[in-house]
Amino acid sequence: MHKTMSTVSRVYVTRQIPPEGLEILRKSGQVQFELWNSDDPVPREELLKKVKGVDGLLCVLTEKIDAELLDAAGPNLKVLSTMSVGFDHLSQPELKKRGIRVGYTPEVLTDAVAELTVALLLTTSRRLIEATHEAKTGGWGTWRTLWLCGYELANSTVGILGLGRIGIAIAERLKPFKVKKFIYTDVAPRPELAEIIQAEYVSMDELAKQSDFLAVCCALTPETQGICNHNLFSKMKNTAIFINTSRGGVVNQEDLYEALSTGQIAGAGLDVTTPEPLPTNHPLFTLKNCVILPHIASASYTTRNAMSALAANNLLAGLRGEPMPKELKL
Ligand code: DGY
Repeated sequence: MHKTMSTVSRVYVTRQIPPEGLEILRKSGQVQFELWNSDDPVPREELLKKVKGVDGLLCVLTEKIDAELLDAAGPNLKVLSTMSVGFDHLSQPELKKRGIRVGYTPEVLTDAVAELTVALLLTTSRRLIEATHEAKTGGWGTWRTLWLCGYELANSTVGILGLGRIGIAIAERLKPFKVKKFIYTDVAPRPELAEIIQAEYVSMDELAKQSDFLAVCCALTPETQGICNHNLFSKMKNTAIFINTSRGGVVNQEDLYEALSTGQIAGAGLDVTTPEPLPTNHPLFTLKNCVILPHIASASYTTRNAMSALAANNLLAGLRGEPMPKELKL
């Protein structure tokens, strides 16, 4: 049956999302929604039951949206809105096949992610976690000439793997630290973007060889899965710092462990890992030169509320059959 504008759509929201988005859904009068009212992910079995017959689904990055889930939802499902810029948890071919439109949340989190990336880079390169630990636990004997020395951004070459909005925003923030040169690699040169930060396009090999700091900013796709591996680390300088705030799957963690523990590279700062959470007994946690954060790059109140609002607005626009504020091209 053709739905009229006055029809109230049934929606399932897979998580307690920040208040701005919920408020938009409530006030719209357009949807009747059920919410997994928890800060933790909805169990898969529960999710498969809850999605049955819904018109719209608002999810976060912990939900795998695959054929099984879409089959469980059934043919009413017309719109999926993810409160994330990343979409590696979505099976795009399955969504496309069923004609389901997809909203996501780019741009609103760029500043928060870039800010956190800079914080993680400095924390790693200037060894701040080690330093506070030493200060607190009696390791601070006296002022020593080479104790806790790290690497500085001034006069350095910063490499960006995957140049997009976030890579540009990181470079813009790093520039005032007197970085000498920005280089990047991507599937192809991106001259309009690169011009903003005067970045030079180089091969993956050159990126590895020249970077004093290498920031991973690419999306996780079948092409980028595990591209930061022995081949890359073995070409990097032993003074180089590796930073990843994109997705853990881009990195081969065994190879990273080897590179860090053998001194092949100087340090790594990771906001993302495989799996998440990374088990507390994971070997990477034993390394002093590896700083691991629990996927918090976009975690500012402003940004998470903006993501929540955008996800709600994407969902509502999609259900009205209108263009979404941010729609993913499938
Ligand atoms: C995203 O949105 O994909 C980030 O990883 C979390 O904000």
